[in-house]
Amino acid sequence: MAATAAFFTNRQPTFILSPPKTKVNASQLFFHCNNSKPFFKTTISCSLQKPPPSLYPRITATRPEYIPNRIPDPNYVRVFDTTLRDGEQSPGATLTSKEKLDIARQLAKLGVDIIEAGFPAASKEDFEAVRTIAKEVGNAVDAESGYVPVICGLSRCNERDIKTAWEAVKYAKRPRIHTFIATSGIHMEHKLRKTKQQVVEIARSMVKFARSLGCDDVEFSPEDAGRSDRKFLYEILGEVIKVGATTLNIPDTVGITMPTEFGKLIADIKANTPGIENVVISTHCQNDLGLSTANTIAGACAGARQVEVTINGIGERAGNASLEEVVMAFKCRGEHILGGLYTGINTRHIVMASKMVEEYTGLHVQPHKAIVGANAFAHESGIHQQLLVPGAMDGMLKHKGTYEIISPEDIGLERSSEAGIVLGKLSGRHALKDRLKELGYELNDEQLGTIFWHFKAVAEQKKRVTDADLIALVSDEVFQPEVVWKLLDMQVTCGTLGLSTATVKLMDANGEEHVACSTGTGPVDSAYKAVDLIVKEPATLLEYSMNAVTEGIDAIATTRVLIRGEKSQLSTHASTGETVQRTFSGTGAGMDIVVSSVKAYIGALNKMLGFKDQLPAKDSVERTSVSA
Ligand code: KIV
Repeated sequence: MAATAAFFTNRQPTFILSPPKTKVNASQLFFHCNNSKPFFKTTISCSLQKPPPSLYPRITATRPEYIPNRIPDPNYVRVFDTTLRDGEQSPGATLTSKEKLDIARQLAKLGVDIIEAGFPAASKEDFEAVRTIAKEVGNAVDAESGYVPVICGLSRCNERDIKTAWEAVKYAKRPRIHTFIATSGIHMEHKLRKTKQQVVEIARSMVKFARSLGCDDVEFSPEDAGRSDRKFLYEILGEVIKVGATTLNIPDTVGITMPTEFGKLIADIKANTPGIENVVISTHCQNDLGLSTANTIAGACAGARQVEVTINGIGERAGNASLEEVVMAFKCRGEHILGGLYTGINTRHIVMASKMVEEYTGLHVQPHKAIVGANAFAHESGIHQQLLVPGAMDGMLKHKGTYEIISPEDIGLERSSEAGIVLGKLSGRHALKDRLKELGYELNDEQLGTIFWHFKAVAEQKKRVTDADLIALVSDEVFQPEVVWKLLDMQVTCGTLGLSTATVKLMDANGEEHVACSTGTGPVDSAYKAVDLIVKEPATLLEYSMNAVTEGIDAIATTRVLIRGEKSQLSTHASTGETVQRTFSGTGAGMDIVVSSVKAYIGALNKMLGFKDQLPAKDSVERTSVSA
């Protein structure tokens, strides 16, 4: 939160509409572009002497009709969001079903073409979450445009996974099964212990099986394609096309490829796979070398027309290509540099999606993260100013394009009507609502009501309630798991004279009050022990961190904790087949640091309790369960 806070704290108005910056200094990335024209070589490094006629080309074309294996407009790139599947595989990012549903709704607002809602065979909880999303988000057809996202479920190449995925997604208006099997030598030998021919046969029969269930939208991924033998790839992809695959996703599973290499991989597949003209090619780029966005764009330029991405770039290890980076790259440079490629994303919902995912997963966005980082639009101080000659600052403010290539409004931030506005105890509900909107929060009346009440309480104690305070309050009140236990009161004594002691009063879901006291090595330890005595759900504290979101003695402190339950909360990892124990994050905010800490702990416990204890699938290791 501190990072986010830094961005919004007492800043000058930096949100502006600006022309593109005059010199783009990207690294020299060469790749092929192909939009149904012959390949041509281009470089992203360019120097525009004059801004092009429009600031940012607004692609006016509407979203083409959805046909699983074909996109009527050759320049349209489908956005496949896998925040809820690959993103949720990030350690500590466990989401409850309600949180997944909230995120899925936000993804639909963004207009993503396909939502990968989860891996239904991972656990009963995952299955239920995908099914709920399929029923609710997968049927919410936009009356005006007819848009409804495809709801996709991941499955390994075995009948049980595929059936489970289908049972979960079949309620959607546009259901998709995404099945995968590893094709690289290292994976086939050490993970699958299968020969190439066995793998081809499994892939073929499982895609056929998925189609036989009545699913007419089947995506196939040769896992670790980035390290797979080319000819073998052409062969297996050709075979699955024959039996009805409609999208072929090419994962750089370990994030090893360079943009030129990944672009060539897609181009080669396009040129050499029999029947490829009848399917959509997709990218799935992990970020192990920090190249996922570049690789994704290289893939699209080479002919891929679906990009797999996540909000904030979360995902396994170093994450995935981030939706906001890829989409904004198409928006800013699509028309002029990327041969007219465009997406159907309504970028004004990006900030809210980013905040929601950040809060629910507990995975904080680094301040300098492109597009959504706290500093992404903050450049009124530091080196830019130092470089300016006296008087030039005024010039820069009038001509923000000097350093800014994206308008903050484009991603859902609004320019403040008053510079450095700070709310106080006389500020009303409207002022609060307006300010939160400017900060990118789209809250409903009930959420606003709750925030307002807490805002008033803080404003009574602090003269100035800053943006950072507001963000902490929203985090504390809106992005919280369903309440199982609620903190009512607490009292601690601590110091050098003896053990710390805490008394905690909690309310359970039935409204009953419970009180417990405990001693501990410090105030937080004693308070957590008192909570444990009431909740009786053993958990190990894995991480604890605290930030003061504003300067000064009356700062609001936000706490983040990560816990692991001592009971199962197990899940099956899609790629490795391992049974993993889930971890749960919680955040709390308050002007009292112990209260903030206890709220965070209770938040994590609530999340853990909300995530019902489920045993993973029995046949969890791919090699034992494939039915060739
Ligand atoms: O990284 C990967 O290979 C995947 C596949 C399942 C698409 O996540």
